[in-house]
Amino acid sequence: MTKRGNVASRRASRGLAPLALWLALSALACSDRKEDDRKETEPEAGAGELNLRQVAAAAGKLLGTAVDADALRADPTYAEVLAREFDTITPENATKWGPLAPTEDSYAWEDADAIVEFAEEHSQAIKGHAFVWHRQAPSWLSSSMSADELRAALKSHIETTLARYKGRVRAWDVVNEAVDVTTESGYTASVFLDVLGPSYIEEAFRLARAADPDVLLFYNEVGIERMGAKSDFTYELMKELLDRGVPIDGIGLQSHVSTHRYPALSDLRANIRRFADLGLIVNISELDARTLLMPGDGDSRRRAQRIAFQQVVSACVSEPGCEGVTLWGFTDRYTWINDEGGEPDEPLIFDRDYRRKPAYRGVLDGLSGALPALGDNLVSNGDFAAGTEAWAAAGELSIRAAMDRSGAAACVSDQEAGLVQEGLLPALAQGGPFSFAAFVRVEAAGEATIDAELVVEDDTGETRTLSVATLTAQGQEWREIAGYVGLGFEPMPSGIALRIFGSSADAELCIADVRLQPLAP
Ligand code: G3I
Repeated sequence: MTKRGNVASRRASRGLAPLALWLALSALACSDRKEDDRKETEPEAGAGELNLRQVAAAAGKLLGTAVDADALRADPTYAEVLAREFDTITPENATKWGPLAPTEDSYAWEDADAIVEFAEEHSQAIKGHAFVWHRQAPSWLSSSMSADELRAALKSHIETTLARYKGRVRAWDVVNEAVDVTTESGYTASVFLDVLGPSYIEEAFRLARAADPDVLLFYNEVGIERMGAKSDFTYELMKELLDRGVPIDGIGLQSHVSTHRYPALSDLRANIRRFADLGLIVNISELDARTLLMPGDGDSRRRAQRIAFQQVVSACVSEPGCEGVTLWGFTDRYTWINDEGGEPDEPLIFDRDYRRKPAYRGVLDGLSGALPALGDNLVSNGDFAAGTEAWAAAGELSIRAAMDRSGAAACVSDQEAGLVQEGLLPALAQGGPFSFAAFVRVEAAGEATIDAELVVEDDTGETRTLSVATLTAQGQEWREIAGYVGLGFEPMPSGIALRIFGSSADAELCIADVRLQPLAP
């Protein structure tokens, strides 16, 4: 039985029977929706109320969090909430190569051991993170090492660490963030790439499998939640490695999102599905949701954050290939984002005093499989049934049958200026988040980048644009462009327009079925 089976069987032996939990969950989810609009935060879970760990068990999904070793050692409430709410643990830093091996001939196991022992005491699965990463690598690694020296160091590290935790740690991130499509090679600059070339990825997985035939081996990546160049490159890399028999069991879509703009459900589910279709176990591996990049007040940000968590978690629950979700921390008190400097953000589901935020309810709703509710279309004549009514374009604007799609399409000759709808302020003044989607078709053979944005004008006439969605479209096929945008306004603007435009100057752009809908829990 793979480690995966062990966790499932262990879960089944704990807590209420799934059906009872499911019924309780439905009641909880309904009661939640009423309460939540009134309260910013909730009192601590009372005795008998469901917690995330129980609800995840009912949903048949893993629900985990990254763990800060210092907080676990020093903060009893942190340890109490961690044990109660999560069934899976990823050491946030303690099992990275640098923290584990500060010098070439010594290991610092204390923090990692403490986290592994805590997880074992609380029947929690463990995912080690990460053998190979360009950040937090040991300071004694260098590009002046020969290939044999670096390979020997890597082999020793992987073998030593896997031997220490054999049978105790269920899975490992073997390689983290190896893809960087902004570089010429498409790979992230690192000492591993410098000295060994891209084959270091395959070598690391083969070393790990040779050292432990049972542990699950994951690749982990940032920014591949939405369809696009980076997730495409990563998909092709996984396919190529798997076709060569490289032992990769799963992939982590990190999902560090922001409430001002995050992947559309269709994108996220399509990505989960295509990696799962390769035979990979998919994890949402590092979910958190920044709020400060979204205009608006605290309440509108927390409401958008609830829906962001609900959407990502429900995408995983809706896809059989997604095994579970790990949050990158659970209380705003210890988030890594606040170590990056600047105004402190609130990206997690408990506030700094361990009170449950609306985002906690978002995770609960997501685990129940409830997708965010879509309201009425706020765009006028989004299907162009009334011709060009409510729309404007700098160049020619023509309405025609949408070729191989039902309904009508609006086609603009000057796609860089694009298609615009003014006068959206009354509809959007309520604040977001909003779901945007449309179908686009570029009348050109090559590739074009299509963007949708909101143009917000303030009372001085100054305008700023809020990016809503972007898509790289191949020529002459209909593609859906979609995205979620969080909005709040301080002060209230004087006007808002929607603009959909493309990047290739000399080609026509056709647009159909434009929707901009409010999202609700
Ligand atoms: O342990 C030292 C401490 O001794 C020293 O006094 C202190 C001040 O310099 O630094 C401490 O190390 C810090 C470490 O976190 C532990 O707190 C590092 O400076 C700091 O850079 C490190 O940040 C971590 C970051 O990865 C490193 O890039 C974050 O906590 C961690 O959440 C973050 O996690 C990564 C994932 O591993 C991969 N995906 C992206 C994610 C966010 O960057």
